[in-house]
Amino acid sequence: MRRERLSVVANEQVGPYTLLRVARGAVDPGVPGQFFMLEAPGRLLPRPMSLCLAPSGELAFLIDPIGPGTVALCELAQGENINVFGPLGNGFVLDLDRPLLVGGGIGIAPLPFLSESLGRPPAVLGFRSDRHAEAAGLVPNAQCCVEPTFVTELIPEGMDVLACGPEPMLHAVRALAPTAQLAWEAPMACGYGACYGCAVEIDGELKRLCVEGPVLRAA
Ligand SMILES: Cc1cc2nc3c(=O)[nH]c(=O)nc-3n(C[C@H](O)[C@H](O)[C@H](O)COP(=O)(O)OP(=O)(O)OC[C@H]3O[C@@H](n4cnc5c(N)ncnc54)[C@H](O)[C@@H]3O)c2cc1C
Ligand code: FES
Repeated sequence: MRRERLSVVANEQVGPYTLLRVARGAVDPGVPGQFFMLEAPGRLLPRPMSLCLAPSGELAFLIDPIGPGTVALCELAQGENINVFGPLGNGFVLDLDRPLLVGGGIGIAPLPFLSESLGRPPAVLGFRSDRHAEAAGLVPNAQCCVEPTFVTELIPEGMDVLACGPEPMLHAVRALAPTAQLAWEAPMACGYGACYGCAVEIDGELKRLCVEGPVLRAA
């Protein structure tokens, strides 16, 4: 893992989201499902973001501007600096027979990199509106639905599910696919196990999601 100040290559609009493309420097992209702490220098504390794509010489992040930290990141323009720390946490296990990617909303963020790493397996994606669903174009071989249809209605049986999305979606996926790998979220201040800000109770034990996760087995 490294901490580096990198340069923004491009800031592209994808529906309501921003795809922030950053020069990679010497930073290792890691494994799909791992995350990076991103900071717009001098503005706000870093925020955790999954790696969305790792094209040659770049790291790309798909960001939903929901609050001050994410808005500051989405406002970074070409040539501006960004502080990047990572890769952090545990990503997805990729040794699978029949992978199926399942994503909901901004939870599709890690799926493009995951798809490339697995040879573009099938994917099912759910969004709350047609505008949000524009991001489906980032994930190859994806079948897409918009509410009131839920993505869980598109999951066939017998697949090795890898999922990322809002908590209610992950609970529904877990009920359908007990062997699924699920990428969870919690507010994170440090990203490397020091602050306990991301601790969640799992089977009666407190676990720091930044070091035990963010990807956990459903079972
Ligand atoms: C491992 C990991 C990977 C992530 N990857 C991405 C990504 O690729 N793209 C992306 O857009 N976002 C991602 N997020 C979520 C993102 O980090 C938060 O949305 C961001 O920190 C919010 O900061 P803010 O200052 O914009 O908003 P805030 O004002 O901090 O939060 C806005 C609202 O969202 C809630 N909230 C904030 N953070 C989280 C969280 N992590 N989980 C649940 N609720 C939260 C707050 O309680 C508040 O209601 C990821 C989070 C984690 C933990
Ligand atoms: S974010 Fe600090 S311990 Fe997990």
